[in-house]
Amino acid sequence: MMIVKQHLILSLSFLLLFFLHCSKTLAQAPAQAPAQAQAPAQAQAQAPAPAPPGPTNVTKILEKAGQFTVFIRLMKATQVANQLLGELNNSNNGLTIFAPTDNAFSSLKSGVLNSLNDEQQVELVLFHVVPTYLSSTQFQTVSNPLKTKAGDSGDGRFPLNVTASGNIVNITTGLTNTSVSGTIYTDGQLAVYKVDQVLKPLAVFDPRPPAPAPAPAKSKKKNAAAVADTPADNSKAVSLTMQNVVLFGGGAIVVALSFLP
Ligand SMILES: *[C@@H]1O[C@H](CO)[C@@H](O)[C@H](O)[C@H]1NC(C)=O
Ligand SMILES: *[C@@H]1O[C@H](CO)[C@@H](O)[C@H](O)[C@H]1NC(C)=O
Ligand SMILES: *[C@@H]1O[C@H](CO)[C@@H](O)[C@H](O)[C@H]1NC(C)=O
Ligand SMILES: *[C@@H]1O[C@H](CO)[C@@H](O)[C@H](O)[C@H]1NC(C)=O
Ligand SMILES: *[C@@H]1O[C@H](CO)[C@@H](O)[C@H](O)[C@H]1NC(C)=O
Repeated sequence: MMIVKQHLILSLSFLLLFFLHCSKTLAQAPAQAPAQAQAPAQAQAQAPAPAPPGPTNVTKILEKAGQFTVFIRLMKATQVANQLLGELNNSNNGLTIFAPTDNAFSSLKSGVLNSLNDEQQVELVLFHVVPTYLSSTQFQTVSNPLKTKAGDSGDGRFPLNVTASGNIVNITTGLTNTSVSGTIYTDGQLAVYKVDQVLKPLAVFDPRPPAPAPAPAKSKKKNAAAVADTPADNSKAVSLTMQNVVLFGGGAIVVALSFLP
């Protein structure tokens, strides 16, 4: 009788301890909960806004328009196509592309394209890309020389001048005189215009003063990924802590049960 009573008291006091422990853990748990609640909110805030279906695909636009197979091939071979895809995704200034037709390329002297080295091919393609969006009305007021993606117009190696009057938009590079012969695509961020001649940059086709090596293409996007990782890691850490609490509580229950008569 005595022993049973003692046993009961022992069990009860252990249960009491257990419940105390539980209520303590429970009291602590809500303190952690807000931290956990914050994590998804943060993740949501940083998630990209409901994305438009990917960046505008220049290659696709040109394919659809037809008669630009050589320019497309050059853009792909030089990796410029991929570069533009990335930039259209990130840039707020947009892009303007002067796309030469297949006829434009075939009116070049034969062998000219093949005589260019890789770097010159990249420069030739990038010379047809202006790193801002220019609507046809903006051509009227643009200040010359235009800066292209091939290089800083300031150093005189890649001059590109545009003069417009009415519907006529003339382009000169110092080696090529032509005019815009049509609008292929325009959406406020990307404009693609048709030109009937390849725009020949002085630096590539008439490199009088021995051209210094062009500055390496700048690339600056890395931090975005690092920042994006943090909230995910936080929420993992929090949920691990919660799991430990639950496991510990479970262990206590098993121990308590084994002490019951
Ligand atoms: C862009 O369009 C071309 C032609 O339709 C396609 O081959 C290419 O995979 C597309 N690129 C992307 C990133 O969607
Ligand atoms: C476009 O940008 C978003 C967010 O910056 C990125 O997640 C996505 O991979 C990018 N897509 C391409 C094709 O560069
Ligand atoms: C464009 O070029 C044509 C032919 O060279 C010339 O007659 C015309 O005046 C030019 N227009 C402008 C705005 O420069
Ligand atoms: C382009 O325009 C600038 C400024 O008007 C001028 O100095 C330069 O000579 C022009 N270049 C060509 C190739 O027409
Ligand atoms: C381009 O036009 C300018 C001025 O109209 C002229 O002086 C120059 O010779 C032309 N260049 C070519 C390659 O036709």
